[in-house]
Amino acid sequence: MTDDSLSSHLHEMDLSPDSAFTAQANGTADLYDAAAADHEAFWAEQARSRISWATDFERTLDWDDAPFAKWFVGGSLNVAHNCVDRHVEAGNGDRVAIHFEGEGGDTRTITYADLQKEVSKAANALESLGVETGDRVAVYMPMIPETVFTMLACARIGAPHSVIFGGFSAEALHTRIADAEAKVVVTTDGQWRRGKPAPLKAAVDAAIHHGDDESPVEKVLVVKRTDTDVEWDDSRDVWWHDLVPGQPDTHEAQPMDSEHPLFILYTSGTTGKPKGIFHTTGGYLTQAAYTNAVVHDVHPETDVYWCTADVGWVTGHSYIVYGPLANGATQVLYEGTPDTPHQGRWWEIVEKYKVSILYTAPTAIRTFMKWGADIPAKFDMSSIRVLGSVGEPINPEAWLWYRKHVGGDKAPIVDTWWQTETGAIMISPLPGVTTLEPGSAQKPIPGISAEILDDDGNPFTEPEKVGYLVLTKPWPSMLRGIWGDPERYKETYWSRFGPKYYFAGDGAKYDEKGNIWLLGRVDDVMNVSGHRLSTAEIESALVSHPSVAEAAVVGAADETTGQAVCAFVILRGDAVDNGEETVQELRNHVAKEIGPIAKPRQVMIVPELPKTRSGKIMRRLLKDVAENREVGDVTTLADSSVMSLIKEGMSSGSSD
Ligand code: WTA
Repeated sequence: MTDDSLSSHLHEMDLSPDSAFTAQANGTADLYDAAAADHEAFWAEQARSRISWATDFERTLDWDDAPFAKWFVGGSLNVAHNCVDRHVEAGNGDRVAIHFEGEGGDTRTITYADLQKEVSKAANALESLGVETGDRVAVYMPMIPETVFTMLACARIGAPHSVIFGGFSAEALHTRIADAEAKVVVTTDGQWRRGKPAPLKAAVDAAIHHGDDESPVEKVLVVKRTDTDVEWDDSRDVWWHDLVPGQPDTHEAQPMDSEHPLFILYTSGTTGKPKGIFHTTGGYLTQAAYTNAVVHDVHPETDVYWCTADVGWVTGHSYIVYGPLANGATQVLYEGTPDTPHQGRWWEIVEKYKVSILYTAPTAIRTFMKWGADIPAKFDMSSIRVLGSVGEPINPEAWLWYRKHVGGDKAPIVDTWWQTETGAIMISPLPGVTTLEPGSAQKPIPGISAEILDDDGNPFTEPEKVGYLVLTKPWPSMLRGIWGDPERYKETYWSRFGPKYYFAGDGAKYDEKGNIWLLGRVDDVMNVSGHRLSTAEIESALVSHPSVAEAAVVGAADETTGQAVCAFVILRGDAVDNGEETVQELRNHVAKEIGPIAKPRQVMIVPELPKTRSGKIMRRLLKDVAENREVGDVTTLADSSVMSLIKEGMSSGSSD
């Protein structure tokens, strides 16, 4: 579709809510009024109506020590009790919590009663390994039920988990384990990827035996998933199947203070060191449950919900584990990739389980567009009634394709903007309430306030002007800080526009209808297939290679992945440039240091990098090169001839 026909097509569509949908929707227009009338009373009501408290809270919000928030002060609750036990106690033990679909076609049906037993056994097992309230547990696992059991078992004990995405390397795992001082690691022998087993525990071993540092890890609990050969340390390693099944299947869930840390999740920042974003108990669970109810419109009695994110990312935390399970929903958990064994695998799963709510990322949708609409057309997807998108802006063309070929031309699409730091959805339409606008996340949900600021920090509302997105009021699921680094927390989020505004790091604008459009990161963070990667982290991986003197990394627009990693590298004087071979070696080096997701699409070997007089690399100019554009203003360069030198001397290699 050309741009012209796309916009006229958009113009003709009626995207106002369908009245039958509105009649049953969890979200209602009056929520906006209620939240605007009394912000704290609104959230107190959400907390009391959606969550079971062991002790009621005395104060809704304590913001006296801003930007360090305390929500639902004095309250206590257990997250695992809320996500599991209370549904069994309410007589819903027979309801399916998880339909597990293994990549190879093995399946498991786990009811809430089963989940209660599995989580209890896992909690007893972790305690037998010495895990106590407050200890950190690292989780490095694929998308299997044991991963969910482990996370909930940690919540049950009050031992914050730090889930590390299975695509990260031993090096990345080491940094994260060390920063959180994790006492126990839970992992698997391997993980299935496109029909082949890939080792996982081996990276844990390497992370623990890293350099001369003494590792904080005392025990490693290993699920056998792929029958991959593993090295074994008898004093440290324990098989899940030897320890967990024999544990008692009941476990007393102790209430935790509302502000007790629930988990740490590392995300990329503008420096090479990843930030341990941490979330606490009562506020996080309240907003995860609330948004899953009003934005995804989950009706636990009738819906089958499927969030395709990996549990290693925040979306998997809030919208596979905590939100849907707190609401007592039935969901699909799929282990594998979308094209194994064929490109219709997702749609086959939708048909098989009658999935009614699907939550995924624009990069996946664009991949399916490339594969063709005839693939989903082969399956019965009439069960779908709500679609969601998360992770990056969804372009209108992908939005329309999603609506038509997955949503049967009728399902509302909720384009949800949020971050690891926000913990839960912040800006999104409410299905059944909002008239949709393809490509825009539209407006803050009830209870959330945002503004767009200009360079001087003044809010504005004129359409089409580009500014910075900020959040103007504390919210229950906000990060409580950066693990071990309160100063960095203040500096990163609360200094750019003064202490009043949380600066999200995203550019944004309004359209003439007042909808908010998110325009991507304004800092040096890239978004590749919905995964956040920092330019600095990849640059430092590149310069750790003996042949590399200097490196600059930019995110260049990419049709499928949103952005792609493009690296510009200066070789050391004594290094030999073997052309394509060197390029491949450097690409693989990054994959080894950080993980395959960070592998550059392109590595370009250049004689110089464009720098300002103060020595700051001008990534903007490199981005022009990477995106094949005329190079922009070079007047602030220390040496303005550098750009032509780069273009002439470039020997580049590209991806597989
Ligand atoms: C981007 C993922 C536009 C944004 C939940 C944000 C989006 C970063 C959207 C957070 C969206 C996420 N529209 N951009 N609907 N959702 N983003 O921490 O740049 O992995 O700051 O959290 O993703 O990424 P994170």
